[in-house]
Amino acid sequence: MRIDIITVLPELLQSPFEASILKRAIDKGLVSIHFHNLRDYSTNNYKQIDDYQFGGGAGMVMMIEPIDKCISALKQEREYGEIIYMTPDGETLNQGIANELSLKENLILLCGHYKGVDQRVRDQFITREISIGDYVLSGGELGAAVLCDSIIRLIPGVLSNETSALTDSFQDNLLAPPIYTRPSSYKQWEVPEILLSGDSAKIEAWREEQAYKHTQQRRPDLLED
Ligand code: ADE
Repeated sequence: MRIDIITVLPELLQSPFEASILKRAIDKGLVSIHFHNLRDYSTNNYKQIDDYQFGGGAGMVMMIEPIDKCISALKQEREYGEIIYMTPDGETLNQGIANELSLKENLILLCGHYKGVDQRVRDQFITREISIGDYVLSGGELGAAVLCDSIIRLIPGVLSNETSALTDSFQDNLLAPPIYTRPSSYKQWEVPEILLSGDSAKIEAWREEQAYKHTQQRRPDLLED
């Protein structure tokens, strides 16, 4: 998979890809991340990428021309499965969306800033708009990092068997059951007996029951559909 990220603040986005699972995925060649600084596509001497709103109002708007130049140059090189705009008024990211996007070959992520982008960018270039939750960030970069993390860990070969995404919360619309490790007894706080029994069928049934109970308590909405 290839992900092209269009941003005015590439430095905000470096570190998530320089450690742990995401770095390993990149090192293994399972994903490549490419940053494009919008200012490099500005057409004037001031490297301007934003301007005042038509009709008045507080806040600057990201201009269409640099974004058009950047996206059009990328689209000339290859086909993209989705061209995504990170924005608080997009569809809210969930595991289903992450699963779907993890199957795409190439993605473009456009990070918004200021008041956002000229509406014509959204109308002409964007195929999908994603929010990471009902709160407003200073820009789309941290949202893009969250989206990339949720997608990349689902690409086959990124996680080992031990960390398989199949047992994650949400993967079957259930939250994950409680987990324990050694010691089995600590300050008289005991690990549930059944997990020490060695009976894998019973353990599996216990985990399913716990996952269901946990979901019913915390996120009954997940059980509705
Ligand atoms: N940009 C600003 N707020 C955002 C959010 N909640 N999700 C995605 N991108 C954003």
